Amino acid sequence: MAMLSRRDMLKLGVLGTAAATLPFERGATAANGVSRIAESRLPAPFTVPFASPPVARPVWRATDDGYDFYEIKQQATQAEVLPGYKSDLWAYNGVPAGPTIKVRRGRPAVVRQINNLPGRHPTLGYQVMTSTHLHGSGSLPQYDGYANDVTGPGQWKDYHYPNHQDARTLWYHDHGLHHTAENAYMGLAAMYIMTDELEQGLPIPHGDYDVPLIIQDTMFDERGSMIYDDHGHSGLYGDVILVNGRPWPVMKVERRKYRFRFLNASLSRGYTFRLSTGDPFWIIGTDGGLMQFPQRTTTFRQSMAERYEVVIDFATYRTGERIVLENLGVQNAVDYDGTRNVMAFDVVGDATDLRGNAIPDLLNPKPPAMDLVETPNLRTRRFEFVRADGQWAINGKTWHDAADSGYEYVWADPGLNDTEIWEFVNTSGGWFHPVHVHLIDFKILDRNGKPPFDYELGPKDTVYVGENETVRVIARFGPHQGKYMIHCHNLVHEDHDMMAQFRVGPPGGGDDPVKAAPCRDLPAPEL
Ligand code: C2O
Ligand code: CU
Ligand code: CU
Repeated sequence: MAMLSRRDMLKLGVLGTAAATLPFERGATAANGVSRIAESRLPAPFTVPFASPPVARPVWRATDDGYDFYEIKQQATQAEVLPGYKSDLWAYNGVPAGPTIKVRRGRPAVVRQINNLPGRHPTLGYQVMTSTHLHGSGSLPQYDGYANDVTGPGQWKDYHYPNHQDARTLWYHDHGLHHTAENAYMGLAAMYIMTDELEQGLPIPHGDYDVPLIIQDTMFDERGSMIYDDHGHSGLYGDVILVNGRPWPVMKVERRKYRFRFLNASLSRGYTFRLSTGDPFWIIGTDGGLMQFPQRTTTFRQSMAERYEVVIDFATYRTGERIVLENLGVQNAVDYDGTRNVMAFDVVGDATDLRGNAIPDLLNPKPPAMDLVETPNLRTRRFEFVRADGQWAINGKTWHDAADSGYEYVWADPGLNDTEIWEFVNTSGGWFHPVHVHLIDFKILDRNGKPPFDYELGPKDTVYVGENETVRVIARFGPHQGKYMIHCHNLVHEDHDMMAQFRVGPPGGGDDPVKAAPCRDLPAPEL
């Protein structure tokens, strides 16, 4: 966790332990591992005002028992990410880090994804194909963003989302074959928030006091364009931290409780968050929604794709105080001066509204998956996450093995509604893997035989599998049959090629992820 300044990095010509021990397939050097723009041209931390991404409006709402229909265009755009510069981005509806889709439980949504992107990536040159995954949703296979279920420029696809789960923080992001990392880095990642009656009825912060934090790291060249450098497919470690698409922003807060939905949307960077005051705060939700009980902590570790709902009480501070959200880094992180800070909160005055200013002792009596218990007759499966022959693999196999089998080969095949224990093993001391299982919520049983962290005691779909760690989780496999992905959410690892699939139910069961709802050519029919 040593902090090096960019100048130190250049002098030493090293990239930190994680990257330095890996074979460099592209001859990366420190000089192209961080921003090339002069440090003086980057905004000073906490000078850019904080903002939440805009909320998407449905194109129309079907009446009665119907659903909401959204239209999202994936498009190239230019945005002022760094003050005074224009950066080329790809974004949903051209909105950096947005738009946020907000839905109510029990009301399905259809999201039309229209690919208006250029045929080739502007600097990397690959052919652009997207697939959109709603991370945290138990979607049918053909709407889950299966990596090979791609939509090319000039094509569109309607994704159907059931919204049948507990209130939670989801996110939709690109999942296109072998280019998920680059596509997400260009900006194809945004939040999707589902509410329900239980969550709305709790006296926790809502409305303006319920705030999304989409956290990413990036790097820029002299002209303010984003640089993509994954250090020989080991990881991308930027030196500029963006929150909701803005560098190290500052947010004005009132003296009361706020609820922040932390999403680590970085490609490869893990964070350990703390407040500059060292004061405690509360974790009230995890990937799959509200926890049973709030957990008090002064720090927590968050890997890519994990979500935590965090309540901070600014009533303990005086008007005029500034509290900084800091990052202590994680083991084997490639940290820079700039990655120490995330954002700041300036306390500007007393609360103008004190509704939803509490944290009840009991949040959710029955969070999904948390009632599952280990019994001796349950089937256990083991998944080893290793680097083999320059590729990232799961049990010695990669997505190429799935492709070679015509996408029939599966790493696991639980029966519909079977409960199983899955064991994720990382025997390396050089890197960590955030392991994500599609379709289901799981409960973490243990990590190296010890109980999970208190703040992990909620429903999860992604778990931090650290250096030399074995993490066991328990899940019930449903409600759909069919093929779903499991992968490392270091998106650079995922693309090269640490991705596997499992099948719920017998061979041939469930809808085909590619053929059941193919994309179509534009123009799309009028709504
Ligand atoms: Cu957030 Cu398969 O991904
Ligand atoms: Cu997912
Ligand atoms: Cu990994």
